[in-house]
Amino acid sequence: MIIASNFKTNHTRKSTKEFVLKVENFVQQNNLDVEVRIYPTATALDKFDVNKTIKVGAQNFYPTYNGSFTGEVGFEQLEEFGVDTVLIGHSERRHVLKESNELTAQKYNFAKEQNLEIVYCVGEPKEVRVAGIDAVMAYVWEQFAGIDLDYKKLVVAYEPVWAIGTGLTASDDDIKEVLQRLREKITKPLLYGGSVKVDNVGDILKIQNCNGVLVGTASWEAEDFCKMIEAAKK
Ligand code: PGA
Repeated sequence: MIIASNFKTNHTRKSTKEFVLKVENFVQQNNLDVEVRIYPTATALDKFDVNKTIKVGAQNFYPTYNGSFTGEVGFEQLEEFGVDTVLIGHSERRHVLKESNELTAQKYNFAKEQNLEIVYCVGEPKEVRVAGIDAVMAYVWEQFAGIDLDYKKLVVAYEPVWAIGTGLTASDDDIKEVLQRLREKITKPLLYGGSVKVDNVGDILKIQNCNGVLVGTASWEAEDFCKMIEAAKK
């Protein structure tokens, strides 16, 4: 099971460090064998001395080692902190920051060349969801254009846009159906994301083909995130 926390634009260097330490202690003390991922803001990245089941990664990067890309972070800067897992294609990057499928695919191919673990996010907006499962899948497969589904360090996160940060979680049946369709072509771990909370994480993790969750809002308190990690063990 993979339990991942996406900090988005929250926490400082100080509070990130405290968060990582609390999670590390919790995982150690409880001897939990769960794959934990934490994606803080770029400014809070650091070399954290953590158990090998915990990885601290990057929410975003520019597909370059270094160069002239004002405001961007390249692989040289991530490498300094030993980052070896990244998020790509998150709905906020696609829809709020208007990142194209082309740039998303470029990032994917670059991260693949660097041998990074990639949590690749896909998901449909509300107007596609109301058109039914075939429309949802057509939309989602489009988001995989130019993406190598056989990459060995690929993790896919299905995150319906309308469920992200809204408090509206997709129904268990909807999640099950999409994961099942993804599973027909993807053998890598499949996560669900979109208003996962302490109260619903246990049920979501029981859904067939669900190999973990990517959590935003409800994961930003270390105690809550630890409860979700514990739920993954049960
Ligand atoms: P949320 O975010 O848990 O706040 O809905 C999930 C995500 O953006 O990955």
